[in-house]
Amino acid sequence: MTIRSNPTPLGAQAPIGVFDSGVGGLSVLRHLRAHLPHEDFLYFADSGYAPYGEKPEAVIIARVEAIAAFLLERGVKALVVACNTATAASIEALRKRYPTLALVGVEPGLKPAAALSLSRKIGVLATAATLSSTKFKRLHHQLEADTGVTYLLQACNGLADQIEKGELTSPATALMVQRYVAPLIAAGADTIVLGCTHYPFVRPLIEALVPAGTQIIDTGAAVAQQMGRLLGKHQQHSGSGDLAIFTSGSVSSVERASAVLLGLTPPVEAVVA
Ligand code: DGL
Repeated sequence: MTIRSNPTPLGAQAPIGVFDSGVGGLSVLRHLRAHLPHEDFLYFADSGYAPYGEKPEAVIIARVEAIAAFLLERGVKALVVACNTATAASIEALRKRYPTLALVGVEPGLKPAAALSLSRKIGVLATAATLSSTKFKRLHHQLEADTGVTYLLQACNGLADQIEKGELTSPATALMVQRYVAPLIAAGADTIVLGCTHYPFVRPLIEALVPAGTQIIDTGAAVAQQMGRLLGKHQQHSGSGDLAIFTSGSVSSVERASAVLLGLTPPVEAVVA
């Protein structure tokens, strides 16, 4: 597969590429489609390689490069890395490789959480790979120094997998969520950051566990707004919001996830990237 180092600017009618290790990025796509209803989207679910969050950084970077090249070959005009783990590992390398591309990543909302928390204790749910990344650590230490808040970091091993399997409400998923969230509340957190794009799909389980008034931070809407700003008026499309999905994993699982999570039944194609 050839990797274009400088994609030619494409017409406004070209689709926007969005990808994640699996179906988690559909939580971001939901916001993108609501905010940019006339844009078409190509979504890549790398379910054959999920989860990213427990993999070495070099593996994640190689997957991101292959998927970005795949989507660019299909003519996308912009790219959303709808995965905190992939963003932490690779957004800087992607920006260097594609300097003229409209590119947006997803980061745990540490800053908006600091602005909201009254207890000054904030729980952060994310993958182990995100929490141990240099990019995350830099932001975390900087914000603790600047704002005086304490971030309580919780790696949620296995949770993205449960969501990939479509187990959004099963007893095993509920137990896992409780094991990860209850200690944060017990330690005084009044704000919980959803630092993985899979987790908005178990938000109802989290909400059922936390005291009323606990803030839950999801950066999906901010990502969609940022993409809108980057595209500007001249790059925006006036199409009908078409969606097609590619996956490196099982087509039927992604079809089911799309129906359950988005209420949509777009075409899903199995591909090797
Ligand atoms: N959805 C991804 C994230 O935002 C990664 C989950 C995983 O593959 O471990 O971090």
